Amino acid sequence: MVILFLQRNTILRKDIVVIIIANIVHTKNKKRNRMTNLKKNILEGIPSNLPPKKKRDPKISHSPKRKDILNKEEKKLAIRNALRYFPKNMHSVLAAEFAEELETYGRIYMYRFIPEYEIKARHLEDFPHKSKQAAAIQLMLSNNLDRAIAQHPEELITYGGNGAVFQNWAQYLLCMQYLAEMTDKQTLVLYSGHPMGLFPSHKDAPRVVITNGMMIPNYSRPDDWEKFNALGVTQYGQMTAGSFMYIGPQGIVHGTTITVLNAARKIDPKAENLNGKIFVTSGLGGMSGAQPKASIIAKGICIVAEINSQATYKRHKQGWVDEIYKDLDKLLDRAIAARDNKEAVSIAYDGNIVDLWEKIIERNILIDIGSDQTSLHNPWAGGYYPVGMTYEDANQMMANQPEQFKKEVQLSLIRHTNAINKLTERGMYFFDYGNAFLLEASRAGADILEGNGVFRYPSYVQDIMGPICFDYGFGPFRWICTSNDPNDLIITDKIATNVLEEIMQNSPTEIKLQMRDNINWIKAAGENKMVIGSQARILYADAEGRMKIAEAFNNAIADGTLSAPVVLGRDHHDVSGTDSPYRETSNICDGSQFTADMAIHNVIGDSFRGATWVSIHNGGGVGWGEVVNGGFGMLLDGTKDVEIKLKSMLFWDVNNGISRRNWARNKEANFAIKRAMEINPELKVTMPNIADDDLINSLEF
Ligand SMILES: NC(=O)c1ccc[n+]([C@@H]2O[C@H](COP(=O)([O-])OP(=O)(O)OC[C@H]3O[C@@H](n4cnc5c(N)ncnc54)[C@H](O)[C@@H]3O)[C@@H](O)[C@H]2O)c1
Repeated sequence: MVILFLQRNTILRKDIVVIIIANIVHTKNKKRNRMTNLKKNILEGIPSNLPPKKKRDPKISHSPKRKDILNKEEKKLAIRNALRYFPKNMHSVLAAEFAEELETYGRIYMYRFIPEYEIKARHLEDFPHKSKQAAAIQLMLSNNLDRAIAQHPEELITYGGNGAVFQNWAQYLLCMQYLAEMTDKQTLVLYSGHPMGLFPSHKDAPRVVITNGMMIPNYSRPDDWEKFNALGVTQYGQMTAGSFMYIGPQGIVHGTTITVLNAARKIDPKAENLNGKIFVTSGLGGMSGAQPKASIIAKGICIVAEINSQATYKRHKQGWVDEIYKDLDKLLDRAIAARDNKEAVSIAYDGNIVDLWEKIIERNILIDIGSDQTSLHNPWAGGYYPVGMTYEDANQMMANQPEQFKKEVQLSLIRHTNAINKLTERGMYFFDYGNAFLLEASRAGADILEGNGVFRYPSYVQDIMGPICFDYGFGPFRWICTSNDPNDLIITDKIATNVLEEIMQNSPTEIKLQMRDNINWIKAAGENKMVIGSQARILYADAEGRMKIAEAFNNAIADGTLSAPVVLGRDHHDVSGTDSPYRETSNICDGSQFTADMAIHNVIGDSFRGATWVSIHNGGGVGWGEVVNGGFGMLLDGTKDVEIKLKSMLFWDVNNGISRRNWARNKEANFAIKRAMEINPELKVTMPNIADDDLINSLEF
């Protein structure tokens, strides 16, 4: 590089050239030293000398104080548990410090052990490793804890209020050390963030097997999470937090774009997109922050209320929301003007969603589409802020008067529902966004049920994602370039576009619209500038699309078109990964939506078909005890070995869910599984016989 530079700049004076070269060498050395230090620190694991005590960074967002749920003896047990990670000579200092953390924050995070180095996605080779697969996992989990990405980075929470990567910093340090040391003949076992250790296995086994929050079923009530998490023996891993597959809100933008596009088509079948329509919702957090961006991509108007000003301004700074208002009248005037001009704009309300809804009623404004993305899967610990109090006062009440706080949340949910009911009577289409809004509103006693005990409103999966995507096998396929190089991402976007365009030539009409939306998405993905953190891309695809794109990437790694391996994955919000009766599996109506066999099979099946890591979680999205979800990561390294694995694993990973949906009599899944059996004659799925309605209705009980 230096030689080329000199040839092109021969008029440069010699002394200047010397300075330039010296600077380049200096910068390179600095980087090398930084990398050596990083590797040294990771390899050290839990430091042998006590690092200085640390204060929390006041400039970043922190988890609210968790419930003080343990009795005295249990608190002692929590301290004993935490001290297991440290040599005895540190215990007297740490015992007092951890007791203070437990009293102040309701949990022991071990702030003292937050590493000095910056935690973020880097080139695979920058992580110390003996196994490339383990280095890729370091990259992925580091991305989940990146300060620019994680919701509460110092509490190791990536998104969703309580979606944890680890319970404490000792687990992080130990896990990174194990990953740095391990070979391709070992498997790291993680119990809810706790690294149980490295176990001998073999090169085709997953390098990491993760469980999060798996409980004996009777111990899965919300307070059980509070208690056992405070004891330091379990965590809520959400979906992609504890499974190391979070790629920032981009991961959800694509799904949200598909949802709002199809919501617009639902109320107006001639609509191409959301243009000229107003979508009102709440939340600018981890996933909810995608709503304004997705609405702009769908060319509509989005009004989103967010109670936490820090979250609002963070999203505004990132360019994910265009304008912020505190004054509701001005905000609504702006939205009406945008509708008149058919302008695409996203507008944040710096305040409570209930105030926004009530003002809309007062002004008698017609809203086309409504939803909600407060974190109601976690209603008592910071997921939902009641109307009529500031964010700060609500946080105080949550910690000091939890019972009163619960009452305030429920009263707020009743007002919230009343407002939505009024607007739907005036013509608004409302859907539940998988955040347990309907469930918690019904538990609060709000007017949300029809006479027959069914919710008044559909979930977005029942109406949109289930029949349009999941039943056909379309889901949130994603990849991450381990070179961390934006150029590699551009190349993968092009490869994926070519693959999908080729497949679309012979796609059946049933899935042509999805294919077209997905091709439009991937073509515009670069321009939409959604990368925050790792060089990642999400692209909804069915089994055929996922397998062919993955194979093309693997070939591109082999021939050097891509400069480094690529990680494949998905979020768990997919055709197969998740059993969740109020969300992913809410359009399964044979009663099996309350079983969790599919998610468990998914992960077991992935693990012996070649996944690099697998994870299975209790909770995720709709809440602890309400869902079981599983996921995988797979490192493509350009080898023939991986080509066999990717075909076998991705085919299973998608078709497991389609078979189950087909058995539940979903007609789109019936179409898709028949097609899959034609493509691969080794697949033989049990097909349902459909009973005649008249016959069933003639039965008397
Ligand atoms: N985006 C999706 O496709 C999708 C899919 C399924 C489920 N969800 C669910 O949506 C919810 C949100 O996810 P997230 O990752 O954004 O969570 P998050 O906790 O990061 O964000 C939620 C935001 O809502 C805000 N909020 C809470 N109460 C409020 C109120 N009364 N008024 C205004 N703002 C309020 C919070 O301050 C927070 O910033 C979760 O329950 C998640 O499971 C989202």
